[in-house]
Order: sequence, then structure tokens, then C-alpha cells
Amino acid sequence: MREENLVKVLASTLYEVINHRVSVDVAFKRACKGRCASNTSEREELYHLARNLVSDYIRVTCSLGKEKPYGKIARAWLNGVDDDDLPPWCRLSYKEWFYRRIVGLLGKKEGEALLKAMNERVWWLRVNLLRSSVEGVLRDLDSEGVTYEVDREIPYMIKVIESRKPVRLLKPVKEFRAVPQDKASAAVVEALRPQPGDVILDMSFAPGMKTSLIQMLAENEAKVVAVDISYRRVLTGVDLLRKLGVDPSRTLVVNADSTQKIFRDEGFDKVLLDAPCSNSGAVSKDPGIKVNLTEGKVRHYAAIQKELLIRAIELGEEVVFSTCSLMPDEGELVISEIYDYVRLQRPIKWAHSGYDVVSFYTEVMRFFPHKDQTDGFFLAKIIRE
Ligand SMILES: C[S@@+](CC[C@H](N)C(=O)[O-])C[C@H]1O[C@@H](n2cnc3c(N)ncnc32)[C@H](O)[C@@H]1O
Repeated sequence: MREENLVKVLASTLYEVINHRVSVDVAFKRACKGRCASNTSEREELYHLARNLVSDYIRVTCSLGKEKPYGKIARAWLNGVDDDDLPPWCRLSYKEWFYRRIVGLLGKKEGEALLKAMNERVWWLRVNLLRSSVEGVLRDLDSEGVTYEVDREIPYMIKVIESRKPVRLLKPVKEFRAVPQDKASAAVVEALRPQPGDVILDMSFAPGMKTSLIQMLAENEAKVVAVDISYRRVLTGVDLLRKLGVDPSRTLVVNADSTQKIFRDEGFDKVLLDAPCSNSGAVSKDPGIKVNLTEGKVRHYAAIQKELLIRAIELGEEVVFSTCSLMPDEGELVISEIYDYVRLQRPIKWAHSGYDVVSFYTEVMRFFPHKDQTDGFFLAKIIRE
């Protein structure tokens, strides 16, 4: 690709991420329209450049000073940026407030290790036992020359070490016998311990990664009600559940607001609340998150989480609450609102304790990118007294 066109694609990806607040993947697709070759390897190379530029955006703009047009930023980045004299948040390419909060919680050495880890993508595959066996998927990965590790804690999870092909184009992924899903996301469902016959409410299910794992672990024999407020995401969810082999006769999908009283109190054995959040733990998946993350966003989601959690506890005896966030505001501090009325359990042995900003931090769980090679997740299992 000619340099002029390359700069246009990179600048346009930045424009989409910053002005339309979309993920890097969506931004790149839009930026590529009419500009990129359909040739997979060239397109992949270009995608990686665009993704790395978004990840480096804060570092480059720190170095250039003053706001510059996106084309100038892309060109400067391609020529190499001198970051020797920049403060640590700029060198790691995070906003100052976020850097300070993480380092305040974990200390400088560990905090920086976490932020650095999130600048790299780690790929996990979940074998879809509704459609395949672990051995079947491993055979396919072997024949496609993928190097991988089968996880020790969750044996249907596979960490991809190296793959010539993009993960989404691997045969078992295209056939929905394996699905890209983070190990911490799987741990959330493991904490719920779904069993055949359970009546389970998934309060914010879309696009359905965890709902499908619930049914996988319950051998498609749980009764699941899957609710989401977003009609567009519900449609994507219905399609995904079907492709993953989830039994629609035992999985009722509802487009509604879960804070509203649409179900009878105490109507469920188990409730999953994988709450909407700032996504600050998912930077490795989408570096656009760190560009658009604000303290206001964290406060906004924390308030929604509290409202949803209070309703969750009315609906079921056992509630699993999770957020893909590294902020205690969207984890420990949400639980502190209900702590006096409930009991907490720690079903995931390999999980870490929460941040010690609350007295009960050992009773809640966290997963960390630099320690677990997962997204940053908060997890609590709540038993109503
Ligand atoms: C973290 S995502 C859920 C991901 C999903 N559990 C999965 O594993 O595929 C949060 C979801 O919460 C939904 N949501 C936000 N507010 C809601 C509400 N009041 N009631 C129901 N769903 C809500 C969003 O539309 C979004 O799909």
C-alpha cells in the first residue's frame, strides 16, 4: 500500500475511535472501506498497525504536544516517537488519572506491570462442548500449526501462543466448536456452578458468551432467562446462541430493562449479573477503551451496577456479580452497598483477593492481566441471608 493511503487508513481509524467512540475493530473496518485490499495477509498487517497506533495514541500525542490532525499523528508515529523524557503514563500510553489510580491501588512496580500487560493481546479459546470435544479442537489446532496451552484450572480453555492465521479464521472457530472468550469471563460462569435443572436468570446477557457457557456447563438442561436492554445486542445474541448450539426451548431471551420489576421476586435459583461497566479491564482486547475512558464513565456505570445488583438480590438466592473493570468503584465499592445484608463466598480457588479498600476484600475475587494473562475482572458470589 502506498504511504499516502496507509496514513489515510490509520488517521481514519483514529478519527472513528475518538469521534464515534467505537472499538478499534469497528473503526478499522470503517476506515478500510474502499481503501484496503481484500488480501488477508496485507489487511491483517494493516489492522495490526492501526491497532498499535490506537494503543500508542496517548504516547504519541504526549510527545508531539498540542493537538495535531490525525494524519500528522499517524505520520509521526510511523517515523518513530522519542519518549525518553515523557512521564510514565505517557510512556505506557494511558491517561494520567488512570495511571495514578492503578499505581495507587497496586504500587508503582505492579501497577506498571499491569498496564504494560494490557498493551499486549492474549487470545483464549473456549472449547464449545455443545459442539465438540477438547481433543477434537486440539486436533484441528495442531493441523493448522497453532501453538497453544490447555489451561490447568479450566480444562476446556486454551491459550493461543502463536497462530499464523488470525484466530477468527481458524477452522474450529469458524465452525463454532471453539469460541474466543477470555479465561476470566469463563471463571465468572464457573463461579455460578450451573447444573441441569437450575432456573437461572442472566440479567444482562448480550451478546451471550456467558449464557452459552451456562448452558454448556448445564448440558443444555438449565432453564435460562436471558435479558438485555439493547435490542441490537439482543439480536446479535440470539444469532450467537443459535450458532453455539444453545437449546432455544430452554433459553428464553427477553429484551427489557432488568432494573424493572418484570419477574417475580425470588423466582430464580441463581442469578448472573455481568454488569455493564467502563470496560477498563478489557484494554488488551480493545485499546480504544483507554483513549475514551473517563472518571465520569466509571461513576456512571457504578451507579447502574448498584441499581442492578439490588434487584438481582431480590430475584435469586445466589447471585454472581462481575464487571470487566479494574476500578474498585465498579467492584468492591458496589458490594459495600449490600455487604451488611448478605454473605460472600469465594468459589474460584485461583482467583486473587480484591483491593484492600474495603474490610471484606479477601471475600471477593479479582483477575489481573499481568498475573493471570486474562482481562481485568471483578467477581463476587453473593448468598442472600
Ligand atoms: C458486559 S455486557 C454483557 C456481556 C454478556 N454477559 C456476555 O458475556 O456476552 C453488559 C450488557 O448489559 C446490558 N445492559 C445495560 N443496562 C441494562 C439494564 N438496565 N438491563 C438489562 N441489560 C442492561 C448492555 O446492553 C450490555 O449488553
